[in-house]
Amino acid sequence: MYLTAEQRAMADGEQGEAVAAAMQILVEYGDIMGAEDMVEIASAAGANIYGPRHSAPLGSDDPERLFGRFSLRTDGAPTAPAAKVHACQLIGPIDREAAGDVQGMPQSAVDRVEASQSYLAGLGVSLLNTCTPYQVGFLPEFGDHCAWMESSAVVFINSVIGARTNTEGRESAAASMLTGLTPNAGLHLDGNRKAEVRVRVEAPVEDTFAWNVLGYWIGSVIDDAVPVLDGITATPDLVQLKQLGAAAASSGDVELFHIPGVTAECRSVEEVLRPGAREVVFGPAELAETVARLNVTRRGDEVDFVMIGCPHASYGQLQEVAALLEGRTVSPDVALWIFTPSALRDRAREEGLMASIEASGARVLSDTCPAIAQFLPPGTRRFATDSAKQGHYLPAIMGVEGAFAPTADCVRAAIDGRLP
Ligand code: F3S
Repeated sequence: MYLTAEQRAMADGEQGEAVAAAMQILVEYGDIMGAEDMVEIASAAGANIYGPRHSAPLGSDDPERLFGRFSLRTDGAPTAPAAKVHACQLIGPIDREAAGDVQGMPQSAVDRVEASQSYLAGLGVSLLNTCTPYQVGFLPEFGDHCAWMESSAVVFINSVIGARTNTEGRESAAASMLTGLTPNAGLHLDGNRKAEVRVRVEAPVEDTFAWNVLGYWIGSVIDDAVPVLDGITATPDLVQLKQLGAAAASSGDVELFHIPGVTAECRSVEEVLRPGAREVVFGPAELAETVARLNVTRRGDEVDFVMIGCPHASYGQLQEVAALLEGRTVSPDVALWIFTPSALRDRAREEGLMASIEASGARVLSDTCPAIAQFLPPGTRRFATDSAKQGHYLPAIMGVEGAFAPTADCVRAAIDGRLP
């Protein structure tokens, strides 16, 4: 791979051991990706704080050593310099306000997380602790090259904003934070951003539930190809685009989609379609079959847990849930948890929205989620969610029965103890 003189000096240790280790990771990664050179990035989003699942097996409590071991693959403790670009921490293992009573985390684990967060903050990493940093101000611009983890965030910024990132891993995102570079390959290159599949949409896709279903079907049919959606009749809002991408990136590896007149790089189907692109059709039968697939572990209508906010809920989604809960009480046999970025929870607290949601018995949680941190209300056997992504992962990860349903039905299930 071609490196500039400055990049070569970084690789040779001129800026310290941590930057040299980071460059080594990026060069190896770039070679695998077939990159000819590096590209400068505007931002990096990673997940580099202590978490019991990923970090505990490494056997170190020292945040600096831990960062070296799980982000830079070195047993030593190279002193990492400040991040060279805007950098943020994505979702983490705990909700700092609920780690004890909701998650049952021992204080020793909470202390490790906090020490790790302090260390990262010292490197200039914003502790946003959400899978949707783009909802709370960490927002690239059109054409920015980035190095982001988190498949739902990757597909959102590529598609909706027109930024450019591959789906990074913990190590490559950390290496990019320390160097401001990423291999110039994959979705950083114009040619790889063209659509390989035309998706003819012949079923009505108008509400958020249907956008989830469409995304889930696309991912399962095209895997990691780039689709362009043809035949959309209702303009999706930002929440619907968030849900579409997250679903497509969970049943498949979709990192970029185009919708004419909606997404950032697509004014028409013809503008983005590659010659020889294949075509698939999403009709009423595909919609029905996908809803059934997302309910494949469901055994009945009863639920004991309802999860909303995957990816983390927007402020508008919090308002929607608050309206559905108005004057009602969550069943004593059900836990209703709504996940949102902590910055939005703070706003909801200031504006009284959180109090009105929690007056029903629901909880507003932040910084983590059940699939990532692997926790559920005690005794959970049957859960419902309005997210195709959470419906995909939680039964597989936690061994519970799962129902996928529209938001209003999920809230109703939390009130009545059964899905309508
Ligand atoms: Fe976010 Fe967890 Fe869903 S990280 S996208 S809420 S699985």
